[in-house]
Amino acid sequence: MRVITLPEFGSALELAEIDTPQPAAGEVRVRVHAASVNGFDLAVAAGYLKDHMEHRFPVVLGKDFAGIVDAIGDGVSEYAVGDRVFGVVTKAHLGDGSFGEFVVVPVSTGLAVLPAQIDFARGAALGLAGTAAQAAIDAAQLAPGSTVLIVGATGGVGNQAVQLAASAGATVIATARTALGIAQVRLLGATEIVDHTQNIAEAVLADHADGVDVILHFAGDPATVLPALRAGGRFVSTLVASPDQLSADGIEVLPVFADPTPVVLARLAESLAAGRTSVSVQGSYALADVADAFEAFDAGARGKLVILP
Ligand SMILES: NC(=O)c1ccc[n+]([C@@H]2O[C@H](COP(=O)([O-])OP(=O)(O)OC[C@H]3O[C@@H](n4cnc5c(N)ncnc54)[C@H](OP(=O)(O)O)[C@@H]3O)[C@@H](O)[C@H]2O)c1
Repeated sequence: MRVITLPEFGSALELAEIDTPQPAAGEVRVRVHAASVNGFDLAVAAGYLKDHMEHRFPVVLGKDFAGIVDAIGDGVSEYAVGDRVFGVVTKAHLGDGSFGEFVVVPVSTGLAVLPAQIDFARGAALGLAGTAAQAAIDAAQLAPGSTVLIVGATGGVGNQAVQLAASAGATVIATARTALGIAQVRLLGATEIVDHTQNIAEAVLADHADGVDVILHFAGDPATVLPALRAGGRFVSTLVASPDQLSADGIEVLPVFADPTPVVLARLAESLAAGRTSVSVQGSYALADVADAFEAFDAGARGKLVILP
């Protein structure tokens, strides 16, 4: 099968041909119809995870996928050949990614049924960003009337978080810097906009003198936005790995991590299929053009970028 690999640390990405993997017990093989780009993939390609996770070279890149089950390992009763599925490759090592024609994944985590109403591109764009946004919303404990500043609202995670926060009844202040970005986050439920090329905290405090109840931090320097949080507020971040990274008295710093369990994935898919949420796919790239997709992602894409093997 054709895949995009990192052949070794420090090398460029390569379009390669490798043996099609077989599912082991408890696994299924998925014919990938679409995958999507996440910051995690760029980090792996740059070698940033060298000391944090085992790499099995050549490392096939890619976390998110959507496609059709085409082979079943022993003991799998939850899925059958022909099922439409989506998910996030969630393994203890790196190497068996989704940027290829097939991916093998366990059924116990990172996999769920893709409802018929959702096309493969949007299914592939939902998993990691959606589960990260859901983890952030759960940690935020929003109540109707809460004010929440979402920093990085125009990205894949931010897009989902804006919708989930608005549907929880919160007043959403979103960052955006372009007319298209502003229009996008307003459509998703933001009622106030802050240009993140300006001083975000100053702009927020001008209208909310006591600060906001919650900051959802998905981009930029955490220290510069922290002053916008009220005393006793919650600072929820996908980028801060530990509360010690921020010196902050009288507030809670909550690092969050995507947890793509089948239950959370199914909840996200149900909400998307019912039209309560949406996924914005801003561009699609052939497998051979993953490097171009990475460049566009790095330059600050709105929404999600999809890879079509
Ligand atoms: N911990 C986890 O489990 C987990 C899971 C998923 C993602 N993440 C991380 O969460 C972050 C967001 O992910 P994503 O997929 O949404 O990334 P993304 O699609 O790249 O989104 C980032 C967005 O933030 C905007 N932005 C850039 N600099 C900004 C700033 N200083 N202030 C406000 N907005 C800014 C970008 O737009 P412009 O540049 O065009 O302004 C872009 O729209 C990434 O760092 C990712 O690695 C963590």
